[in-house]
Amino acid sequence: MRKMTEDDLKSAFAGESQAHIKYLIFAEVAEKENKPNLVRLFKAIAHAEFIHAKNHFRALGNIKKSDENLASAYNGEDYEIEEMYPVFNETAKFQNEKQAEISTHFALEAEKLHREIYKTAIELNKQNKDFLDQNVFICPVCGHTHAGGEAPDKCPICGTLKDKYVKF
Ligand SMILES: [Fe+2]
Ligand SMILES: [Fe+2]
Repeated sequence: MRKMTEDDLKSAFAGESQAHIKYLIFAEVAEKENKPNLVRLFKAIAHAEFIHAKNHFRALGNIKKSDENLASAYNGEDYEIEEMYPVFNETAKFQNEKQAEISTHFALEAEKLHREIYKTAIELNKQNKDFLDQNVFICPVCGHTHAGGEAPDKCPICGTLKDKYVKF
């Protein structure tokens, strides 16, 4: 692919991905405002943006099999843990930006768990096995991720209680 087209697609993928997430956040706000039709609108258009992002991702040649996808996921988490979030967190501390310090701390701690879980998934996938048949629990405040059994009584990262966890 010619470089300019490739750069355009990468930029479009980033933009559509952000729109997708943004609309889901807007849907949550509309939900709190008790406006179910606005919730539906934001969720539906978020899905359309997901499709646009996926089409750009495909055009970039990035849709692959799970072995490569898991490697990509692991490497992404590893980069965030070893390079990106520690630096972002230090910058936020240095600039006394409390909210940014908290959000980067939450992400850094949760990404460590994602990396571990992906490591397990990679091992299983190498043996041509599916991931473990277990539920995955996500803390709605910090994104703490717990696979298997039950959610912890209290989130080890932010202290949120068990019954608030989202189960997958
Ligand atoms: Fe992650
Ligand atoms: Fe948490």
